[in-house]
Amino acid sequence: MAAPVIHPTPRPRITAFRHDLDLSTEQLHELLDLTQQVKHSRQRFASALKGRYLSLLFEKPSLRTRMTFELAVKQLGGDCVAQTGPIAEREPLKDVARNLARWTDAIVARTFAQETIDELSNWSGVPVVNALSDLYHPCQALADMFTLKEQFGRLRGLRLGYVGDGNNVAHSLLLCCARLGIHCSIATPPRYEPKRGIVERAVEFASASGAQIEITTDPARAVKCADAIYTDVWASMGQEAETEERKNVFAPYQVNEALVAQARKDTLFMHCLPAKRGQEVTDSIMESPQSVVFDQAENRLHVQKALLLMLLQ
Ligand code: CP
Ligand code: NVA
Repeated sequence: MAAPVIHPTPRPRITAFRHDLDLSTEQLHELLDLTQQVKHSRQRFASALKGRYLSLLFEKPSLRTRMTFELAVKQLGGDCVAQTGPIAEREPLKDVARNLARWTDAIVARTFAQETIDELSNWSGVPVVNALSDLYHPCQALADMFTLKEQFGRLRGLRLGYVGDGNNVAHSLLLCCARLGIHCSIATPPRYEPKRGIVERAVEFASASGAQIEITTDPARAVKCADAIYTDVWASMGQEAETEERKNVFAPYQVNEALVAQARKDTLFMHCLPAKRGQEVTDSIMESPQSVVFDQAENRLHVQKALLLMLLQ
């Protein structure tokens, strides 16, 4: 008997992932569903991107993002070329973008300025993926949403308490939570809040999804009813000169035993990594049974495979 013909399910195509706003709520759900399939049927997708190539550009250091994008494209049957260092030192960015587009099918870039990602996208005409910029970390937020879904079996109505700097990771989490109906409370020191324009977009999404968005300076308030507590480094890449000043400002925002004791007993601990133990989080919280930080790291691989399929297949 002839083997049955399996028609792939049509997916809403996406053309770029410059930031979280490039995925509609429907596409976000679609991506999380596809991630589940990719994670649990690796062989089924083993040649889905055969003959397709990625350019990886990293202006900043990386372990997880770089490794998982390389593995993702290779596990899908494709390959990649990579470059570390300033992207447009020897020639204008618009020329770099058009060179890469002649050789490869998509560009994955980690940059300082968000404008670098936007300009690569404008000039290359191929899909550009934000692998972290000063403003967003959208691939991380995808992995975090998938991790929450795995842990709780649902997303709508969950409560996330983020404590620390209102940075790129906080921005992407805020936008994703707001779209997916996850209540999100963000506690930062005064002057370190997430950017107002991003909070306003999140509030718009939240009014459609039913999520509650709260920006506070009180860490205890953010964690009180949280299903998961999230933190990130106090000084992001590019802010090294502010490290000492930030250590003083952020000290009351450390995720430690005293803070976790004010949350629910079964609350999860999340961190995008790398973590600075003894600063934003204690070693014992990182190593506690509630910590899902390595699930988040593993899921970077799976969500990025799903993302590449949605961009390139
Ligand atoms: N979480 C994350 O993006 O890690 P890297 O900086 O190691 O890529
Ligand atoms: N906010 C951190 C995230 C690292 C993955 C940074 O930008 O350095």
